[in-house]
Amino acid sequence: MSTVSPSGSPRIRVALLGCGTVGSEVARLLTEQAGELAARAGAPVELAGIAVRRPDKHPELPTELLTDDAAALVVREDIDVVVELVGGIEPVRSWLLAALNAGKSVVTANKALLAEYSAELFEAADAAGADLYFEAAVAGAIPLLRPLRESMAGDRITRVMGIVNGTTNYILSAMDATGAGYAETLDEASRLGYAEADPTADVDGYDAASKAAILASLAFHTRVTAKDVHREGIADVTASDLAAARTLGRTVKLLAICERVTADDGAESVSARVHPVMIPRSHQLAGVGGAFNAVYVEADAAGELMFYGQGAGGAPTASAVLGDLVAVARNRVVGGRGPRESAHAALPVRPMGQTPTRYHVSLDVADRAGVLAQVAQAFAAHGVSIAAVRQRDANDTASLVVVTHLAPDAALQSTVDEIAKLDVVHEVVSVMRVEGEDA
Ligand code: NDP
Ligand code: HSE
Repeated sequence: MSTVSPSGSPRIRVALLGCGTVGSEVARLLTEQAGELAARAGAPVELAGIAVRRPDKHPELPTELLTDDAAALVVREDIDVVVELVGGIEPVRSWLLAALNAGKSVVTANKALLAEYSAELFEAADAAGADLYFEAAVAGAIPLLRPLRESMAGDRITRVMGIVNGTTNYILSAMDATGAGYAETLDEASRLGYAEADPTADVDGYDAASKAAILASLAFHTRVTAKDVHREGIADVTASDLAAARTLGRTVKLLAICERVTADDGAESVSARVHPVMIPRSHQLAGVGGAFNAVYVEADAAGELMFYGQGAGGAPTASAVLGDLVAVARNRVVGGRGPRESAHAALPVRPMGQTPTRYHVSLDVADRAGVLAQVAQAFAAHGVSIAAVRQRDANDTASLVVVTHLAPDAALQSTVDEIAKLDVVHEVVSVMRVEGEDA
């Protein structure tokens, strides 16, 4: 419930949960830009409480605002908006449900929570007439979710494809630049502070899969959770993969790809996946280096759009959080609400095996008559059409690169399994999906 300030305007009172990398920047900007934020929101927006795990470790924060009891803070009578920057599922999920049930609006950057429980959180927000905003949960500072939720609400989005994890993009960019292997590059990224002490969520693709679930849900008006997203990380990407890509004028990126797939009978489904792909160096996403993020959106009427910027970091992420906070404050001031969940399409999620993809397969094979025919036969036996073949000879071995047309991913996997067993194949050097080229 908003209180009334001496000026007669309603004051928007904020509970901040978490004051780490992002939370500390939100607290700083809320204080430093108080005047401007009040003018934009239509009312003063003030910090009324800050919950952290260890209050004694935060001498920089006003003691009177600090607490370690987030559960009590989120339901306090004077709080209007809860800004959650702690992360993880529990106890955060319980805090936010309690806050929403008590009529508080919520702003969060918590992709892991949203990718599993957004339906439950939206239902609680609806029941209480409160707002749920989460721009910072995907691609940090980049305005992406609001365009999908609001600006493009009148269009029909067909594809969202992008680099949504800065850590893996930094590692792959470095492997591409230096020719070094994965383990060595990860060690270097950790030493320089680009990878976290425990990089599992990033390098194994969990972080990107959570973001893909959120993007697919918004783009296709369908509930998609992290469990629906096919996920492969970058731990198996080798220096050979990058060398093979380089030879063909491509590079390797970890992409989140969310697509509306239309079957021959017109039935629509949604596919969401995260895995390494080869893309042409001429593709816009290939030029996105280091820890930056970029997302490419295709829609029937808008055509192709590209969103680019800093996907992480305290201040960049705080920018997105504050944008949400101003939006929620404005809604409170005029007595309205922001967009609700839009899941009316309820499209089925297509399993990865049935999702159309293209493969790049690089093989070392015996250099004698009939070998190419045997390899081509394996593709034909699984109904996979070959788009291009390239051969380079060295002594009695030939390096063969095969790029396919689109085929169901399961058929491509079976083809590779069969090829690996052929006597004439000395080694499967690199197998990777291909994006960004005409099929
Ligand atoms: P940090 O680890 O830096 O900060 C977490 C904060 O939460 C700390 O202040 C910590 O308290 C507090 N906290 C932890 N447990 C509790 C608890 N039980 N009760 C109260 N407070 C608690 O996290 P980040 O700022 O990096 O991330 C916050 C959120 O933002 C996450 O959901 C993350 O995924 C998301 N995000 C982060 C980005 C980034 O670049 N860092 C980018 C985009 C999204 P204390 O300080 O006392 O330890
Ligand atoms: N760990 C994430 C990344 C932070 O590397 O992009 C932003 O969600």
